[in-house]
This record gives sequence, C-alpha cells and structure tokens, in this order.
Amino acid sequence: MRPQPYQDILKEVLIDSDKLQARIAALGRQISEDYRDAANVVLIGILKGSTLFMSDLMRHVAVPHAIDFLDVSSYGAGARRSSGRVRIIKDLSDAISGCNVLIIEDIVDSGNTLSTVVRLLEARQPESLEICTLLDKYERREVDIKVKYVGFQIPDVFVFGYGLDIDEYYRNLPFIGVVKDDFVMDDA
Ligand code: IMP
Ligand code: MG
Repeated sequence: MRPQPYQDILKEVLIDSDKLQARIAALGRQISEDYRDAANVVLIGILKGSTLFMSDLMRHVAVPHAIDFLDVSSYGAGARRSSGRVRIIKDLSDAISGCNVLIIEDIVDSGNTLSTVVRLLEARQPESLEICTLLDKYERREVDIKVKYVGFQIPDVFVFGYGLDIDEYYRNLPFIGVVKDDFVMDDA
C-alpha cells in the first residue's frame, strides 16, 4: 500500500529544521567540552530512529570518536508502547570494554527500551556510559533512567519525522511533526 503524503497526517510542526539544527550544534559543543580529555569515545546510535540525529550531531562533536549502531526491538507490547523486553536485531560491530560510550537515541518515552539497553551494555564494562536523546517525553516515563543530554522535552503527543517513523515511513522529514488526532495507527 502506498503511504499517504505526510501533509495528510501532519497536525503541526513541533520543531522546525532551524530549531533542531541549532539545538544539535549546542549539544555537540557541550559533548565536545565534557569529553575533551576522554579517550576511546564511541557514539552508539540506536537504529533506526537515531540515524538523522547521529549524522548531524557527530559533525559537531570535536573530540575524535568512533561510531557504532545497535538495533533492538521491544516485544510483548503494541507498536506505541514498549515492554522493556528487548531483543537484539543487530549487535554492535566492536567491543566497548574500556570505552567512553555515549548512546544516541531519538526519543525516550517510557524508558523501558533504553534501561534494558543500558543494562546490556553495562555488562560489557565500558569505562563510562551516558545517554543523549533528541526528544524526551518525560510525562510518560515508567522507569528511572539517567539521561545526561536532552535536545528537547516534549509533551505526550505522537511525533514523526527527523528519524522517527510511522509504520517505517516519514523518517526523512527534516522537522519533527505531530500526527493528526484522528490518524489511527496499527497497534499490532
Ligand atoms: P520506550 O521504551 O517507551 O522509551 O520507547 C522508546 C521508543 O519508542 C523510541 O525509540 C521510538 O522508537 C518509539 N517512540 C516513542 N514515542 C514515539 C513517537 O512519538 N513517535 C515515534 N516513535 C516513538
Ligand atoms: Mg527507536
């Protein structure tokens, strides 16, 4: 089935491209400062939502760093809710023991997915492990999770674009949009 053009499901633009890019540059400067003296820095992007954020953010991270990607899927809950039971779809390419790891995520919602990912990666004995998320839907948090870098705190609305998908589409949009209230998603 051919998906609708994004204009049909967009209620409003929540964060436009200029605002995104300005905040991401600021985050990059802060990370560069905090990791100024750190060795073995690796940014780990959580696929697929973090791809655009990762590629823009890393251009502003001035300390030498490697990148890697992890793809996980939450199962046991619907498409809009996660359970914290996480399955690794694609593991990291390289070991992270002794590395200063910064996890790059698109959005922290309940926090279930990330808290499991953190536990998983902690077991591999990195030197340090921190989280950087573009969006923080803080009202929906279910587990206590320490997020060091936050791009934007957003209200409890379903968003898409700039890496975030609706049924795998619309990740390419350069802004964060809010989906129309009457748009019904498969909650399979
Ligand atoms: P959590 O485990 O509940 O924190 O779920 C986080 C994941 O749910 C994110 O990595 C996204 O893939 C997805 N997610 C949560 N909220 C949204 C949203 O508003 N739009 C698109 N994906 C979302
Ligand atoms: Mg995700």
